[in-house]
Amino acid sequence: MKIDYKKLVAAAAQARQGSVSPYSRFKVGAALLTKAGAIIGGANVESASYGLTCCAERIALFKALTDGHINFVAVAVVARCAGGPMPCGACRQLLAEYAPAAAVFVADSADLETVRKFTVKTLLPAAFVLVP
Ligand code: THU
Repeated sequence: MKIDYKKLVAAAAQARQGSVSPYSRFKVGAALLTKAGAIIGGANVESASYGLTCCAERIALFKALTDGHINFVAVAVVARCAGGPMPCGACRQLLAEYAPAAAVFVADSADLETVRKFTVKTLLPAAFVLVP
């Protein structure tokens, strides 16, 4: 399947506008692409109890899963940082469980033309899974 990663990165940049990050002021957006062509966006949401904060990747994934989406082929993540934001360890675990075949695209919101590509497998090799 040919992935229109530029469109997905644009969707992540759009989703980033929904970030609720009053504490860090670090806005992150993510967008998932399914085999069926659906794009589901999400952004980070922070809590005054900092540890309750949820990353953009997991918000997008939880939205997608609870809306019944399956077969994720790619995810894009955008934030204002050089080279684009690398998903944190917790998000890598969730991606390994629910989007193991996904290509991961990251981009700096100040330069959406420069996109780095990874795979979930390279970001979290030998991931812990209960369901094979
Ligand atoms: N954050 C994400 O949304 N995704 C990541 O992969 C790393 C960090 C958010 C969490 C928090 O709201 C802010 O970035 C600063 O850590």
